[in-house]
Amino acid sequence: MSMSGKLRWPFISVDNSGSMTVDGASVKTLVEEFGSPLYVLSEKEIRNRMKRIKKAFPYKKLEIQYAAKCNTNLEILRIAKEEGLELDASSTGEIMLGLLAGFEPGKITFTNLHKKEEDWLFAAKIGVKAITIDAVEGIPQAEAAGKQLDKKLKIFLRINPQIKRGRYSTIHHQYGIPIKQAKFAIDKVLEQPHLELVGFHFHGSYIDNKNIHWIAAKKLLRLAKYAHDKGARIKYIDCGGGFPVQHTDKKVFQPEDMGEEFVRQFREKVAALGLPEPTLIFEPGKFIVANAGVGLVKVVSVKDLGHIKAAITDGSTYAFVPDVLAYGWHYPILPATKIHMPPEAKYHIAGCTCDDIDKIGRERKMPYLERGDILSIMDCGAYSNVMTSNFNTLKRAPMVMVKDGVARLIRRRDKYGEMFAQELDVLKLESRGELNKFTSFARQKLKVPIDELQLPEEAKPK
Ligand SMILES: Cc1ncc(COP(=O)(O)O)c(C=O)c1O
Repeated sequence: MSMSGKLRWPFISVDNSGSMTVDGASVKTLVEEFGSPLYVLSEKEIRNRMKRIKKAFPYKKLEIQYAAKCNTNLEILRIAKEEGLELDASSTGEIMLGLLAGFEPGKITFTNLHKKEEDWLFAAKIGVKAITIDAVEGIPQAEAAGKQLDKKLKIFLRINPQIKRGRYSTIHHQYGIPIKQAKFAIDKVLEQPHLELVGFHFHGSYIDNKNIHWIAAKKLLRLAKYAHDKGARIKYIDCGGGFPVQHTDKKVFQPEDMGEEFVRQFREKVAALGLPEPTLIFEPGKFIVANAGVGLVKVVSVKDLGHIKAAITDGSTYAFVPDVLAYGWHYPILPATKIHMPPEAKYHIAGCTCDDIDKIGRERKMPYLERGDILSIMDCGAYSNVMTSNFNTLKRAPMVMVKDGVARLIRRRDKYGEMFAQELDVLKLESRGELNKFTSFARQKLKVPIDELQLPEEAKPK
């Protein structure tokens, strides 16, 4: 059987030459135009997933926040805004990106494990929707920021409900206040004159069971009742992201499989506890973009290792799909320019660094591969580009968004000048002489255009 029998992506098809197309754009043309490696995203699929998750939870006071960290590309943020989503930001940098994409500060929630004083002040000054406290130690920090600004800050308490169901467990998660400390944290926040406790937060990461969000929500609602009885007005219950992503033929639960039941149980519990109806927030990340992303790499050589072949590509786990190393992620890899051909041999699909662990895929059955073939790494729209490094001083790949066969560049390839900038800046601080030595070396020996090095003004030749 050819590889095309297995396609499960609605935006993928195969053209007359047997090559893959992404939402109508041929992978050959994309690589010719933008080079490789290259990330390709389907706009239709992203929008469809944003719509789907909203529809899956039939609850009037529902807010879906896109978790920026999984792919911070400004164009995705802009689309999220256009689709009526809000933003979950995990740093001041992500809040800035949200603002650049056009989000009102009141549509951004700031959730992470650690905020410096400057982060508290920035988020509080611009007036984000809420700031999440992740540990009891964060309470005095938050109060100090509120006091400094003479403002009452809207606070979520992030809770680790310490759930265990089958193989899924949050017991050892380092994020969130362990549930045993939750009431203590609530009491402490309620004592602070510059903090207003408005919500509870849970995030469950790699959730594999459609009941987990509800089990967590139930615990958050009980805490909301405790706070309510002490005079707090809890307006938000935030159940985070963690919706699973299909990476193999094994199906995973979809928001539609649990949304209605979740809402029914949620409503009933709110009524039973006598709470005012809170706004319900979810923060999907990978569910929105993972399956909508395709990574294209080119085979540059093929080596027969005896027991197996290695197809060396111009991609790398480090600079392109690092979660293969970080999480042992298994991406489906398709022979994008030989999609109708039957698998003939097993290959390691290797990255181009001198590092044996730099394997994008191991022991994958492929048609015979040769230099110039394009391979597509499927489902890599989330946690790939954002986690990459320049290891081996490789440039990170560009990203294009495809819609109805037309691709537009939404992130360009790295430039050497910016990759070296942090160190050139240090040289500048250390000694003018050092920098001059470097610039003349670059100019004379490497013939690097001086502008590409982005040198500070005083170091440029006059
Ligand atoms: C607070 C928070 N919300 C949402 C997300 C998105 O998670 P996912 O991509 O699993 O949906 C994350 C990811 O780490 C997170 O930390």
